[in-house]
Amino acid sequence: MHVMIINGSPRVKKFSNTDMILKEFTKGMCENGTTFEQYEVSDREQWDDIRNAFISNQNILIALPLYVECIPGLLLEFLETLEPKNDGSKMAFILQSGFAEGIQLRCGEAYLEILAGKLGCEYMGTLVKGDNFSIRFMEGKQKERITVPYAAMGREFSACGNFRSEKCKKFTGPEIFPAPVRLLVRLVFNTLAKKSFARISEGLGCTRPLDYRPYS
Ligand SMILES: Cc1cc2nc3c(=O)[nH]c(=O)nc-3n(C[C@H](O)[C@H](O)[C@H](O)COP(=O)(O)O)c2cc1C
Repeated sequence: MHVMIINGSPRVKKFSNTDMILKEFTKGMCENGTTFEQYEVSDREQWDDIRNAFISNQNILIALPLYVECIPGLLLEFLETLEPKNDGSKMAFILQSGFAEGIQLRCGEAYLEILAGKLGCEYMGTLVKGDNFSIRFMEGKQKERITVPYAAMGREFSACGNFRSEKCKKFTGPEIFPAPVRLLVRLVFNTLAKKSFARISEGLGCTRPLDYRPYS
């Protein structure tokens, strides 16, 4: 199998968590002879090449981060330039995010299923995983703890051609945190984090509180 991969993050490749995830994912995926070519939506100069590769390839994988609960605007702008295919092509997605609970990615996942259909491709599933905020700030073992498990998902994708297996579903982790953890997170956000965000925003020149609601 040959897979055409699009990194849908607006962040340049060097700083993109999605790219760091793809590095491990493709390592696993290529172990049994699967090959790939990768493109970056963040580089507008590649857009013509990405469009051509989208037309000429039958196995398409888009890896993207969740931005403001949805897909990044730059990726959307690019997708709007594609013509539907209807040639039997298959489309799968890796949807990754900062916050860890699977539930917050489900709306994006549903959107991606519709998107594959609109682009005339068969939907092969979405690998859904959060808890990736800090990959780009990490090094060594700390970074590997988060990225290396994606290699197993690459192997799985190469073997099945989709993300529908139980292994892929389990990879998401907790759909929602248990109540005590949610309470603790709320406490931290309403105290320490709130103070720290307020300090940062003041430093950036904000004069109103962060929860200011002029229209309520
Ligand atoms: C503008 C922006 C919006 C984001 N919105 C969300 C969000 O709604 N939910 C979430 O869990 N993570 C959110 N994140 C975190 C990213 O999904 C996460 O850091 C991801 O790993 C970034 O991948 P990238 O470096 O390839 O862009 C956001 C990050 C940015 C920069």
